[in-house]
Amino acid sequence: MKEVPVKLFSPLTLGDLELPNRLVMAPLTRIRSGQSGVPGELVALHYTQRASLGLIVSEGTYPSHAGQGFPGQPGLVEPEQLAGWKAVTDSVHAAGGRIVAQVMHAGRVTHESTNGGFPVVGPSAIAISGTTRTYDGKQDFPVPHALTDDELPGIIAEFVLASKNAIAAGFDGVELHGANGYLLHEFLSPASNVRDDAFGGSPENRARFVVDVVTAVTQAIGADKVGLRISPEHNIQDARETDAADLVATYGALVDGIAPLGLAYLSVLHADPRGDLVQNLRARFGGVFLVNSGFGAITARDEALGLVRDDIADAVVVGRAAIANPDLVRRWRDNLPVNEPNPITYYADGARGYTDYPALAS
Ligand SMILES: Cc1cc2nc3c(=O)[nH]c(=O)nc-3n(C[C@H](O)[C@H](O)[C@H](O)COP(=O)(O)O)c2cc1C
Repeated sequence: MKEVPVKLFSPLTLGDLELPNRLVMAPLTRIRSGQSGVPGELVALHYTQRASLGLIVSEGTYPSHAGQGFPGQPGLVEPEQLAGWKAVTDSVHAAGGRIVAQVMHAGRVTHESTNGGFPVVGPSAIAISGTTRTYDGKQDFPVPHALTDDELPGIIAEFVLASKNAIAAGFDGVELHGANGYLLHEFLSPASNVRDDAFGGSPENRARFVVDVVTAVTQAIGADKVGLRISPEHNIQDARETDAADLVATYGALVDGIAPLGLAYLSVLHADPRGDLVQNLRARFGGVFLVNSGFGAITARDEALGLVRDDIADAVVVGRAAIANPDLVRRWRDNLPVNEPNPITYYADGARGYTDYPALAS
C-alpha cells in the first residue's frame, strides 16, 4: 500500500526560509542569561539540541534596557549580548537549523528593579494588579509612564535597531512580540490603552502603533525576515479584551494594516484556532499562518497533526513539548514515547530541565 505523506512533516516555505517540517519551536522564556543578558554556551546548547524543528523562535529578547521584563532575560542591545547570540545562531546553523529572534518589549510588565532603573512605560498610566519577580524580590507592578506622542518614534527605533542587531547576530529573521500582554499588546487592549490621541480610542487607533512598528521593521530588514505574534482574547497580564465586536475590529484593523507588507508569517495564540475569529484573521492575512492553542492543554501530537492536516494553519507552534523533547520531530513523526516537561525548571538556573532532557537513542 502506498504511504500517505503526513503534511506536518512536509516542507514549508516561510519568508526566505525553507522549513523541512511544520513544527515551530515556540518562543520560551527560560531566563538563563544572567544579569548581563548575555546568552552563553548553555543557551547555545539548548537551541542547538532542538535544531531539527522546522523553525526555532527564540525566547522573548529585549530591544532596550527599559524593555527588559525578567531577571536573567537575554537582550539584543549590548555588543556582548550580540556576540553571545552570534555563537548561538552559528551553532544552530551548523546543526542544520533555522532560528529567528523574538523581539519583546515588556512595556508595563516589568519593574525598575528588573530593567536597570529605566522608567517603566506603557500606552497609559495604568498598573497591572499583582506582583512581579525582580532582582530585589517580588514587588508590586509600578504605574507605567504613559508614552507621549514624541516618545513613540523612539520606541519604534528600538524595535528597528534590535531587529537589525538580530540579523547582524546571525538570526534568520525576527518575530515581533505582539502577544501576551507586553508593550505591543498593551496598545491593542482597551483595558491598558485609554489614550485619546491617534494611538488610542477606536480599534483602528489602538492597532496603529503595532502596524507602525511592523512596518518600520519590515522597511529596515525586509518583509521576508519579519513575523508577528498576536494573542487576541488571551486576557493575560490585565491586557483584557472582553468585547467580541471590539476584538474583531481591533485585530481586523491590525491584520488589514500588515497584510500588504507581505510578512514571512503571522503567528496566533488562541484557545480555539479552528474558530471564526482566528480563521477570519487567517483569511485577511493571506500569508503563512502559524497557530498555538495557548497555555491550557499542552500541545500534543494529535492536535498538531490535525491542525495542519485540516488546513487550520500552515505550521504549528509547539512550546512545552519542545522543552522536554530535543528530538520532538523524530518522536512525533515516528510516534515514539515522549518526555514530560517539568514546570519547576522552566524559570530556573542551569542545565537541569534545560539541556538535560534526553533524546532517544537511534
Ligand atoms: C516557560 C514558558 C515560557 C514562555 N515564554 C514565552 C515568550 O518568551 N514569548 C512568547 O510569546 N510566549 C511565551 N510562552 C508561551 C509559549 O510560546 C506557548 O504559547 C505556550 O507554552 C503554549 O503552548 P504549548 O501548549 O505548546 O506549550 C512561554 C510559555 C512557557 C511555558
